[in-house]
Amino acid sequence: MKKNKVKIALSILSADFSRLGEQVREAAAAGVDYIHVDVMDGHFVPNISIGLPVVESLRKITDVPLDVHLMIEKPELFIDKFAGAGADILTVHVEACPHLDGTLNSIKKLGIKAGISLNPATPLSSLDEVLPLADLLLLMTVNPGFGGQQFIAGMADKIVRLRRILYNRKSSAELEVDGGITTVTAPIAVSAGADVLVAGSAILNSSLGIGAAIKELRKSVC
Ligand code: DX5
Ligand code: ZN
Repeated sequence: MKKNKVKIALSILSADFSRLGEQVREAAAAGVDYIHVDVMDGHFVPNISIGLPVVESLRKITDVPLDVHLMIEKPELFIDKFAGAGADILTVHVEACPHLDGTLNSIKKLGIKAGISLNPATPLSSLDEVLPLADLLLLMTVNPGFGGQQFIAGMADKIVRLRRILYNRKSSAELEVDGGITTVTAPIAVSAGADVLVAGSAILNSSLGIGAAIKELRKSVC
C-alpha cells in the first residue's frame, strides 16, 4: 500500500498574536499543509484562547486549509458560525458531544470536513458507531489546554491501534496527532501510523525560525 506524504499542521496557539498574519504567511511559504486553530472556552479545557474573528481574519490572508479544533462545550452551537468564518475542517471532541452522530452530520451538511478528537484517556471504542462519518480523527497526545507539553509516550500504541482500525474498516479518514510533536516524537508518531502532525511550539518557538523549523520537522519523518 502506497503511503501518502505526511502532512504538517501549524498550531497557532504558540503564535505571537501581534504578528499572526506574518507568521502564518511564513508557514504557508514553507509549505505547511494545514493551519490548526485551537479554540478553547475555559470550560472544556482550563484555558481560553481564540475564536471566530481569528478564523475570519486568517481566511482572508491564506488559502492553506484551516483545521479548526474545538475544545469547547456544546460545539454544536457554533458549527454554522465556524463554517461561515472559513473553517475547512471542524473537529469536535467525543467528550463534549452527547449527540456526536448529529453533530458530525451537521458539519458535513455545511460542505466542510468533520473531525473527531479523543482525549488521551478516552478509549478508541468511542469511535465505533461514528467512524464512517469522520474525515479526520484527532488523537490528543497531551491533555488538551496548553501548548508546549510533553508527548505522552503511551499514546504511540493508541495510534497503532487506531491505524489498524482504519485499515480494517477501510476508512480513508486522516489520522492526526496533536501535542508534544517535535523532531524527536514526530518519527515515533509517524511510524505508529499518524499521517497529520500538529505542531505549535516546535515550530513557533524554534530558534531556527518558522520556515526552517517546518523543514526540519518534515525531514525528521522522511
Ligand atoms: C493543545 C492544543 C495543541 C497545542 C499543541 O490543547 O490542541 O494544538 O497547541 O502545541 P504543542 O505543539 O506545543 O504541543
Ligand atoms: Zn489542537
